[in-house]
Amino acid sequence: MHLHKYEKIWLTFGIGSLIVFLSVLGYGAFWQGTHPQSHGVTVDPNNIESYEAFKPENLGLTQVDDDKYIVNIAASAFYYDLGKDEEGNSVKHIRIPKGSTVLFQVATKDVVHGFNVAGTNVNMMVEPGYVSSLETVMNKPGTYTIVCNEYCGIGHHLMYATLEVYE
Ligand code: CUA
Repeated sequence: MHLHKYEKIWLTFGIGSLIVFLSVLGYGAFWQGTHPQSHGVTVDPNNIESYEAFKPENLGLTQVDDDKYIVNIAASAFYYDLGKDEEGNSVKHIRIPKGSTVLFQVATKDVVHGFNVAGTNVNMMVEPGYVSSLETVMNKPGTYTIVCNEYCGIGHHLMYATLEVYE
């Protein structure tokens, strides 16, 4: 089979591009941990408490193993419900030791909200009727702001909490 010179150049270019794009995709997925945020888990948007993780007593930070944690969050305009502390005050700040595996589970009671732990790969859209979840390893110490990055109404900019990763 005879291939024209230009045909060879274009074939090389096409196959080369494919290899470059697949490498970028593979790097993002396997080294940077970029994955779809959840698995299509549904919840009744008018009664998210019917889902075990969003019962008031299960909200916030729970340690499930030596270095494993779950954070359940009920989002609503304009507030992230992370449960209550011993004094009965709303939790606005959670602390997790460095190197922990953390599963975030978020659901909304009203409109679409965002859930972004700024500076990490935790960045999810929270849609009514769905549970957004993402498991990640918190390796970098510091204080991160959890922000709502989907415009949800007049108090959108007031919707935040903080997460501290300590050594
Ligand atoms: Cu919630 Cu913006």
